[in-house]
Amino acid sequence: MADKKIKCLNPIAQVGLNMFGEGYEITDDIQEASGVLVRSASMHDMEFPDSLAAIARAGAGVNNIPLDKCAEKGIVVFNTPGANANGVKELVIAGLLIASRDIVGGINWVKENAGDDNISKSAEKAKKAFAGHEIQGKKLGVIGLGAIGVLVANAASALGMEVYGCDPYLSVANALNLSRLVHCVKDREEIFEKCDYITVHVPLLDDTRGMINKDTIAHMKDGVVLLNFARDILVNEEDLAKALESGKVAKYITDFPNTTSVNMKNTIVVPHLGASTEESEDNCAVMAVKELKNFMENGNIANSVNYPACDAGVCTSEGRITICHKNTPKLITSCASVFSSEGVNIAHMVDKSRGDYSYSIIDIDTKSTDEMVKKLEAIEGVWKVRIIK
Ligand code: MLT
Repeated sequence: MADKKIKCLNPIAQVGLNMFGEGYEITDDIQEASGVLVRSASMHDMEFPDSLAAIARAGAGVNNIPLDKCAEKGIVVFNTPGANANGVKELVIAGLLIASRDIVGGINWVKENAGDDNISKSAEKAKKAFAGHEIQGKKLGVIGLGAIGVLVANAASALGMEVYGCDPYLSVANALNLSRLVHCVKDREEIFEKCDYITVHVPLLDDTRGMINKDTIAHMKDGVVLLNFARDILVNEEDLAKALESGKVAKYITDFPNTTSVNMKNTIVVPHLGASTEESEDNCAVMAVKELKNFMENGNIANSVNYPACDAGVCTSEGRITICHKNTPKLITSCASVFSSEGVNIAHMVDKSRGDYSYSIIDIDTKSTDEMVKKLEAIEGVWKVRIIK
């Protein structure tokens, strides 16, 4: 009988779901779920059952999930960084091209004139209205050099753009993947001042919300083109609407329709298609399911957005218990004393912290018991205890 129940809040690619084997069941009822797979469904107003141990977002952004609320209920939240990066990159490159050439206007003209028997001649006359610019040789600023930003920077550079990238949190892995042709700048001011095109690839956080606003726009070149395939509220759209009206910003290409963006001048809005490719959907589903399975079966955490990475490999001792807990002094000592009071030897232990949240994997020389779980759960600051073995 399946003891691990997974609820999908959005359609998840079958290739990922097929990887859940024996011991797993897809359920319709979140109240009995131990894991959730989600794409864009908002989880902010949901009540989470005690059975829920993990949520995996098949995608990068996690602004639809209340990360702290989950952490304090001992629910580990995962995302799939990089799994849809190529899909998003390709759409951003399309965005650069549709910003520079009036491809959309041209296509619409052809549709509107489909009844013209002389369309090939008329097109030759009409086409001057849709002339544009080439992106080769133009300066592109990439704000945020995560998995997507790096791919965009490299691809734009390969298309002959002069690319400037900025990321104060650039990881070693992403730095190694970045083309040496990309100029890394310390301060995004340099991007604002220099670049003809600016594309934003940062997560939505309290300090990135509204980061494109009247003050930052004022530092940009006149006629700059902005691209936003990250999240709409990274941009203060009221400020941007004014800048588009005045011509300070020549064009805005965004993947996020909302009541403001769809009515803005010189704006092209795509209906959040960045990761909507079969390849990206498959990659995200596979990665999310792998993360969930490794967590469910071994207790290991990789790519969590609210708990630290923590890996103890596959359990080779008699028992394994995992604990989601508050990062507070003496808590580990209290947990260890539960095992000593039961006369149980700890064979191996990993404890990692991330801000206020900590996670321990404890391997013991006997089978784990419900009694141990009860005693551990009674310790103040312990949020969730799971028996892996
Ligand atoms: C992401 O956050 O991964 C992208 O916006 C794509 C998506 O949400 O599906």
